[in-house]
Amino acid sequence: MSCMELRNVSYTYPGEKMPVINNLTLQIEKGTCLAVRGDNGSGKTTLFRLLNGLAFPDTGRYMFEGTVITEKYLKNNRASKAFHKKIGYLFQNPDVMLFNGTVYDEIAFGPRQMGLPDEETDRRTRDCLQLFGIGHLAEKAPYHLSGGQKKRVALAAVMALNPDVLILDEPMAGLDAGSRAFLHDFLSQLKKAGKTLIMATHDEQLVRDLADQVLVMEMPNMEMSDTETPETV
Ligand SMILES: Nc1ncnc2c1ncn2[C@@H]1O[C@H](COP(=O)(O)OP(=O)(O)O)[C@@H](O)[C@H]1O
Ligand SMILES: [Mg+2]
Repeated sequence: MSCMELRNVSYTYPGEKMPVINNLTLQIEKGTCLAVRGDNGSGKTTLFRLLNGLAFPDTGRYMFEGTVITEKYLKNNRASKAFHKKIGYLFQNPDVMLFNGTVYDEIAFGPRQMGLPDEETDRRTRDCLQLFGIGHLAEKAPYHLSGGQKKRVALAAVMALNPDVLILDEPMAGLDAGSRAFLHDFLSQLKKAGKTLIMATHDEQLVRDLADQVLVMEMPNMEMSDTETPETV
């Protein structure tokens, strides 16, 4: 059984004519790394929204560990919790992920939501603060941090849940060289630890070192429109 499988999946945004995802079939085995490439506007983030159950195929099927993921299935609270506990999602723009008053609370939020005991939550939060080199920021407001610091905090918050699958939307974007090297190394270690990684990235070296599979998203047929594609989150 694959970790994730898309079968002939198509998706069109409500009110739009062109599908962003068009008849996509894809299989991701547990413990492997899929790199997703493609120009801005080619549908990488949309694909990740489908994989995270934030959007649903119009046609075709998405299966996670053998279970067909539908809107109805995720309406069930227990099913939804189990699904989201297994998948960590780093958004392209960390601003949309950060909403707590302090970095500490930001990282502790997920474990608290999952109902972990206070002690375990505190242990995980401290581990993540240390792992990502952000211990000195623990009492700061995420809102005031630099872009690279925000990304570290967002990733720490994702890792605090110890997900089996990590979906990372342009994790290297906006990071300085030191942070990129750190993240490259960190992701290699996750892969060695058996995690399944799915990442949209333009980082050639990262793709060469980690990817077992590369998916190149094609631009939807743009002939009908001459407008610039906005950056989306
Ligand atoms: N909420 C939305 N409603 C309508 N169109 C959208 C929405 N979000 C993204 N799109 C469009 O879908 C296409 C793919 O966007 P996206 O998945 O963000 O691409 P990428 O992540 O590869 O840059 C783009 O043409 C974009 O304008
Ligand atoms: Mg994107």
